[in-house]
Amino acid sequence: MKKDVDFHKRSDEDFKDFIKKLELQALETAEERIPLYLEVGLKDADTILDVGCGSGTVTKDIARFTKGSVIAIDGSRNMAMVAKDILKDCDNVQILIGSAEKIPFGENSFDIVTCNLFFMWVDNPQIVINEMVRVVKNGGIVLASLEPDYGGKIHWPENQKIDEIFAGRVIRERGGDPHIGRKLRSLFVRAGLETRVGIGNNRIWSCEEDKSYYLHARDFYVKTLFDAGLSEEEIDKWEYEYLKSLDEKIQLNFFPQFYAIGKKP
Ligand SMILES: C[S@@+](CC[C@H](N)C(=O)[O-])C[C@H]1O[C@@H](n2cnc3c(N)ncnc32)[C@H](O)[C@@H]1O
Repeated sequence: MKKDVDFHKRSDEDFKDFIKKLELQALETAEERIPLYLEVGLKDADTILDVGCGSGTVTKDIARFTKGSVIAIDGSRNMAMVAKDILKDCDNVQILIGSAEKIPFGENSFDIVTCNLFFMWVDNPQIVINEMVRVVKNGGIVLASLEPDYGGKIHWPENQKIDEIFAGRVIRERGGDPHIGRKLRSLFVRAGLETRVGIGNNRIWSCEEDKSYYLHARDFYVKTLFDAGLSEEEIDKWEYEYLKSLDEKIQLNFFPQFYAIGKKP
């Protein structure tokens, strides 16, 4: 039997910051996700399953965008408890604790099965996508939004020592797959779906947006660098240079977030 940490892959100490980060991410990525929700017909779907719902901030957007009922599932009890609180005012959402490797529903149960920022953290992605396909109706849609690919990160001016830490190393050390974005097509096609993949975020953020994101998520960045063995002095120097490049409006960051839309024949 898997433990909570096997699902969300964060220590107790990091859990609170992780919830904060998910909340910020949900806010910052709404402009990428909402067009996908419109495209797959979320508004008029009757039954939706959100797999790996985490703290439920993205589920909240899904619930607001549909007239249908939403089931949200996560393997972590602690995550599900947070989601219950965040979603307490959403009448059309029910939250379950359970593994996506064995979704507790029969075949052909949902119009849409969706997940966000999920496959990167899944131990057996092919088993999980096969399960998602099993429970979606014939003619229904499986949508995976926001699956990053750290190999496609572009950023300038660079800092080789620090960039290497954020270029997937931290994700791999935590048990995630930093190259999941490029694998989505293969996962979906092998699961028998008629598949279209794309990159959701084709807009380059302004330096003001990058700065605002960094300042909100600063604790996460500083802790990550500290845990990677950098001294306080090195972190301060890097932060000074990074913020300076943002204030000079010369910094450029691009980090591809893939999506896949699959139709069950
Ligand atoms: C990065 S979080 C994303 C949460 C949410 N979808 C969002 O975008 O805010 C990934 C979530 O997937 C859950 N998870 C990972 N593997 C799982 C599995 N096999 N079954 C169910 N949940 C899983 C974790 O517990 C975690 O809450």
